[in-house]
Amino acid sequence: MKVQSTTTQQDDHFLISDYDYKSTNIEKNGDKYIAKPQITNFKFKTDTRIPKLGVMLVGWGGNNGTTLTGGILANKFNITWNSKRGTHQPNFYGSLTQSSVIKIGTCNTEEVFIPFKDVLPMVNPCDIVFGGWDISSLNLADAMSRAQVVEYDLQQKLRPYLEKLVPLPSIYYPDFIAANQGDRADNVIPGDNKLEHLNIIRKNIADFKQSNNLDKVILLWTANTERFCVEDPNVHGTAERLMQSIESSHPEISASTIFACAACLEGCSFINGSPQNTIVPGVIELAEKAGVFVAGDDFKTGQTKFKTCLVEYLVGAGIKPKAIISYNHLGNNDGKNLSQESCFKSKERSKKTCVDDILESNRVLYPTEEELNIDHTIVIKYCPETGDSKKAMDEYIAEIFLGGRQTFAVYNVCEDSLLAAPLIMDLLLLCEFFERIQFSKDASEYQRFDTVLSWLSYLMKAPKSESGITTINSLSRQRAMLENLVKVCAGLTIDDNLRLEVRYG
Ligand code: NAI
Repeated sequence: MKVQSTTTQQDDHFLISDYDYKSTNIEKNGDKYIAKPQITNFKFKTDTRIPKLGVMLVGWGGNNGTTLTGGILANKFNITWNSKRGTHQPNFYGSLTQSSVIKIGTCNTEEVFIPFKDVLPMVNPCDIVFGGWDISSLNLADAMSRAQVVEYDLQQKLRPYLEKLVPLPSIYYPDFIAANQGDRADNVIPGDNKLEHLNIIRKNIADFKQSNNLDKVILLWTANTERFCVEDPNVHGTAERLMQSIESSHPEISASTIFACAACLEGCSFINGSPQNTIVPGVIELAEKAGVFVAGDDFKTGQTKFKTCLVEYLVGAGIKPKAIISYNHLGNNDGKNLSQESCFKSKERSKKTCVDDILESNRVLYPTEEELNIDHTIVIKYCPETGDSKKAMDEYIAEIFLGGRQTFAVYNVCEDSLLAAPLIMDLLLLCEFFERIQFSKDASEYQRFDTVLSWLSYLMKAPKSESGITTINSLSRQRAMLENLVKVCAGLTIDDNLRLEVRYG
């Protein structure tokens, strides 16, 4: 696709798009709102050169790590496999960038859609170089068979590729994850000096970058859910205090925070795929100084994605959700880890907050703070027999016209990691893409986006936002935000769905 317009300029390296952003400023006058539409000029400058990207996964030998790595290799080498349902071709279903489309305009009266990945140059997932760490020493072929996610025949066909991949030894702070993980921790960096640990991880990153001749590296935490660290401004509040706390091996510095710091100090963006509070203020300051991004928290895959759709639909229809009861049972290692209360608490928190802003937006349905406090219950049970085929059962009870009740009972079954792997890939591809965008407001100097990459909220259960920016959980708003930004950067018109060109020519 090529955009022909007076508002875009392109050379060999950059695409610059001029965009008049229309918003409405609201002033409150007693009980009246005064709406003042306004226009602000933005320029978006996208570097169209695609870098050689390396990705280091923390928890590489887990269900997500092995499924992602194997799934990409299956696509790269076009590996087919057989099951009782016949022969299967690899695909990227579940990936926003690879398998979803964007409307770019209208041809006569026909709407034209192209793949998300084709609107602007993005890294091809098959070109990513993978590496990473795990506290378990299994090579990725054995780890994939332990995970029991991928069909047996595909596991066998991937074995020659995966058995060569062995995770680097990792940092293991047993106090932060469930005690039941101890039996797999045979690949651990010795000692308890946190500064030494940080330096080893930094060296691992630098070596990986150099030995693979990479332009950039992104780190992503897909290791076990940790308990929340007890956040303290004196320990985690600034970059300096955080570094001092690492030097003194403070007990409330988690392994995930060490990885986040190492990423920042090596000039790499960091993504937290689990719910815990890894990205403490000191990490954000380190990232800011290094000019890299941080994003989190917790992948938004099946149940929560659906929740932020259904609740948005109800509230948008003027129907009042009064209770959401979510049961999960799962038998994979994630479930085993979450069976310890401290780790479950981290997950409960991120699963619970995901509808708050949707409810708060509608003061007709929820005029008081008390009414906003709906029954929202999260239950997670470890049931080994279920394996990675997680079961999620949700009951939504809503109040309708004249005090009536509407109840939805939703049953969701799927291999958890088959949803998570394409989503992780999107996080990595989009994070890399955002590193190539700069913007200028009202002809000011070009600058990069804020350090906390809340543009990726579509993919996060508890999206982290830059301070002062409210979090959006609504799935359609999150997707529209991403799609519109990509279109604006490409110089395309944002779709307001009025379809006037189709109605009136
Ligand atoms: P998993 O338990 O199969 O994999 C985690 C891996 O991390 C294991 O191989 C473990 O040995 C390793 N590990 C633990 N501590 C480590 C450390 N300090 N350094 C390096 N490796 C370490 O779990 P799975 O299913 O792959 O999920 C990973 C994370 O993603 C979990 O926190 C989970 O809650 C989160 N998540 C998963 C979703 C899904 O749909 N699969 C959705 C949302 C979040």
